[in-house]
Amino acid sequence: MDDPAFEIETDAQTQSILLAAANHDVSALRNLLRNSSANVQDSETGFTPLHAAIAACESDEETGKTNTNGDTNAQIDGVIKQQEIEAAVKTMKLLFENGAIWNDLDTNDETPGCIAHRLGLKELYELCVDAGVRAELLLSRLDAYQLLGDAESEEDEEEEVAGTFHESIENIDLNSEDAQVDKSTENPNYLASTLTFDRDRILDESANGVMMEWETTLMRRSAELLIPTPDLRVLNVGHGMAIIDSIIQEKKPKSHHIIEAHPDVLKRMREQGWYAKPGVVIHEGRWQDIVPSLVEKNEMFDAIYFDTFAEEYKALRDFFSEFVIGLLDPAGGTGGDGGRFGFFCGMGADRQVAYDVYNKIVEIDLFEAGFDTEWETIPVPDLDEQGEWDGVKRKYWALKDYKLPTCSFIG
Ligand SMILES: C[S@@+](CC[C@H](N)C(=O)[O-])C[C@H]1O[C@@H](n2cnc3c(N)ncnc32)[C@H](O)[C@@H]1O
Repeated sequence: MDDPAFEIETDAQTQSILLAAANHDVSALRNLLRNSSANVQDSETGFTPLHAAIAACESDEETGKTNTNGDTNAQIDGVIKQQEIEAAVKTMKLLFENGAIWNDLDTNDETPGCIAHRLGLKELYELCVDAGVRAELLLSRLDAYQLLGDAESEEDEEEEVAGTFHESIENIDLNSEDAQVDKSTENPNYLASTLTFDRDRILDESANGVMMEWETTLMRRSAELLIPTPDLRVLNVGHGMAIIDSIIQEKKPKSHHIIEAHPDVLKRMREQGWYAKPGVVIHEGRWQDIVPSLVEKNEMFDAIYFDTFAEEYKALRDFFSEFVIGLLDPAGGTGGDGGRFGFFCGMGADRQVAYDVYNKIVEIDLFEAGFDTEWETIPVPDLDEQGEWDGVKRKYWALKDYKLPTCSFIG
C-alpha cells in the first residue's frame, strides 16, 4: 500500500539528512540519524550523505564560481579550506560509525571515494579507502565464521565460501551488475570456451580480454624483481600469451615449471615448442589440482609468479596462504635471502578506490600468511587512446598507475 503522506515525510527526512551532511552539521546529523539510516539516497542524484559531505568541499574554482568580494587572500582561503575539510572528516566519521556504505554509486556512477579522488581531497579519499578495507575484511571474516558454524558436507561448504566471498568481491568490484550475470568470467566456463589468439591479445568466446600485450612492461618488471640472477627454480601459474614465460627463459633458470589449464593455450604451447625448452616442466590442469602434489613431492622454488584468469580474489588468497608458504624456499633465492612471490595485481582496477581497497586487503592477507610486500608504481599508458579496448567486452584496466607487488617471507 502506497501512502503518499509517508513518502513525502520520508523524502523530507532524506533531504534533511543530505543537507546536514552537506553542511557538515554534525549535531543535526547525529539527531537525524537516531531515527534514520545513514544510507538514504537522493532520488535524482543518487547522492548518499557521504557523497554530499564530500561534494560540499568542492572549491569555487572547481564549481566555476568567482569570489565576488575580489578577496584573493590565499592564506585565508587555505585556512577556511582546512576547516572545511576537518568538518567533512568529522561528518564522514559520524556517518561511517552509523553504518554508511563506502561504495554506493550515485547517478554519475561515482562512489563517495570517486568524488574525493576526482576533487583531489586526499584526506577524505583515505577515509573512504579505510572504510572499504574495514567493511570488506569484516565481510570475509564473517564468511569464514559462517563456514565454521556450518554442519554441511565439504562440497557444500566450498560452495558457500565461494558464493559468500563472491558477494564481498562484488561490493568491491563495482561492476557488480555485470559480474552477477556474466557467467563467462567464471573459471569452468572460461576453461570450456574457445580462445582467439591475436598478435597482441587473447580473447575468450565472449570477447573477454584474457591477456593483452600492453601488460608486457609489468610482466618484465615482475620477472626482473623475482629472478634477478640465473640458475633459479621458477614456477609460473598461467601461461597466457607466454609473455612472462619468455622473459623467464631469458633469465636462464635452473628449472621452469608452468601450470596451465586451458586446452587451447596448451595446444599452442605444444605448437610453439614449449615442451622442449630447457628446464621447462609443464603441468597440464588447474593449479588447484596440481599444486598439492608439488607440495607433497617437496618441490621448492626460488620464485613463484601467479596470473590466472576468471578466478575470484579468494583463489589468489588460497594460493598464497595455503601453498606458496610450502613451495617457496625460505633459504632460496639469490644469495639465499629467501624466495620471492609475485602476482598480477589487477583486482578492482576499473576504479581507483576499489583498486586501493583491494591492494590494502591483499597486503593484510599476505602479512597474515607470513609475507612482507614491497610495491613498485609503474605508469600505464592511456589504453583508450591506443584503442586497446576495441573489440574487448570489458575494460579491466582504467587507472594511470599499476602497483607491482613483490613478496618475501617476513623477518
Ligand atoms: C592472464 S593469462 C596469463 C598471462 C601470462 N602472465 C603472460 O605473461 O602471458 C591467464 C592464464 O591462466 C590460465 N588459467 C586460468 N585459470 C587457471 C587455473 N585455475 N589453473 C591454471 N591456469 C589457469 C589461463 O588459461 C591463461 O592462460
